[in-house]
Amino acid sequence: MAGGGLTATADTARIEAPVTARAYFMCAFAAFGGIFFGFDSGYINGVMGMTYVIQLLTGLDPATTPTADFTLPASQKSLITSILSAGTFFGALIAGDLADFYGRRTTIVLGCIVFIIGVILQTASYGLGLLVAGRLIAGFGVGFVSAIIILYMSEVSPRKVRGAIVSGYQFCITLGILLASCVDYGTQNRMDTGSYRIPIAIQMLWALILGTGLVLLPESPRYFVKRGKLDKAVEVLARLRGQPRESDYIQQELAEIVANQEYELQVIPQGGYFSSWANCFKGGLRNPSSNLRRTILGTSLQMMQQWTGINFIFYFGTTFFEELGTIKNPFLIGLITTLVNVCSTPISFWTIERFGRRPLLIWGALGMLICEFIVAIIGVSDGGNPHAVSAMIAFICIYIFFFASTWGPGAWVVIGEIFPLPIRSRGVALSTASNWLWNCVSETHDWFSLPSC
Ligand code: BGC
Repeated sequence: MAGGGLTATADTARIEAPVTARAYFMCAFAAFGGIFFGFDSGYINGVMGMTYVIQLLTGLDPATTPTADFTLPASQKSLITSILSAGTFFGALIAGDLADFYGRRTTIVLGCIVFIIGVILQTASYGLGLLVAGRLIAGFGVGFVSAIIILYMSEVSPRKVRGAIVSGYQFCITLGILLASCVDYGTQNRMDTGSYRIPIAIQMLWALILGTGLVLLPESPRYFVKRGKLDKAVEVLARLRGQPRESDYIQQELAEIVANQEYELQVIPQGGYFSSWANCFKGGLRNPSSNLRRTILGTSLQMMQQWTGINFIFYFGTTFFEELGTIKNPFLIGLITTLVNVCSTPISFWTIERFGRRPLLIWGALGMLICEFIVAIIGVSDGGNPHAVSAMIAFICIYIFFFASTWGPGAWVVIGEIFPLPIRSRGVALSTASNWLWNCVSETHDWFSLPSC
């Protein structure tokens, strides 16, 4: 078994079992959680543009109200959209603690249950109050799931395919957003409660599939090592790698995890509850590998991911395209941008391992910057011309391509990798909470008081 020293090696082929299809599937299954992250953040955009919903929440009559005025007030839109992120922010923070006490898997399953309760309330709603309360509760569930899935996947995946597997999570987020657009598209013209109840209720399916699947999958071996339960750790590692417990692969990988944990405990001694949170901020700014530097890196990466402005397209895209006035079918444009997002993400499965995390983030940021400038220049110089609008949409699609193949997956992969085990659950939780905090800020911003471009 592992000794006291650090026995890590860069030769992953020597210490890790070959990745079988079954092992790959077991590690990648959790990526499914991305579907309800994506669906939940995606469906609300279309729902808020539906005639029945606007009528229900505002009392406006579509027959007598001018089209430009027949919309939800900006404050209502912001409340409905951002309340979910408020829930996810706190959910993600609490989840870090739960994942250390009860395990990664249990926390995700708990997140699914909380989420289902929130969805039931939203489905039952017939007005703003219950809808908002339901979204807040569902947000807690999404917070648990979104923070701990990254932790779980990073911990169970074989090192050589970890980047690709965590990128699979981002792919599922994009699929979730796409599915939400399709369902919205299908129910948008209904003049009954089915228009919003169907998209809301469908989400229960994602939570049920994820929760049931995870109950059948093994817990993270690193969680058991952290709790000192080496027998259980060896058992789950053997299941995950599809090897017998006695195999050299399993013994060596476990020895490495234990050695890392022992080494990291020497460097970061564990105290009580508060001091284990405080550990995330120790080590000073000057030391490049300090915990503080890692926490700043994780939280600011997630902040920057939101600052790319990607969610403006996915949350407010339909309304924005409507307000341009020259687009015949804004829902369809929304669907196209979502499709570009889905189709561009798999490129990262290969590039993230081939070129590394940092170059991908640098090139992606440059690509997005150029596209954003071009869209802004076209918008201010000739925003009312239909040809100019088509060019803007083309550059928005190229911008989405850059996001989806770089910063979308990259930010999640990096936060799963940078924290040492003693502070990992909290570091990932803080970083995910930062994603939701900035997500919430971008949603509460009153974009609609801006002139359309
Ligand atoms: C972001 C989400 C965004 C999605 C778009 C995720 O990585 O965190 O806020 O909606 O990508 O694909």
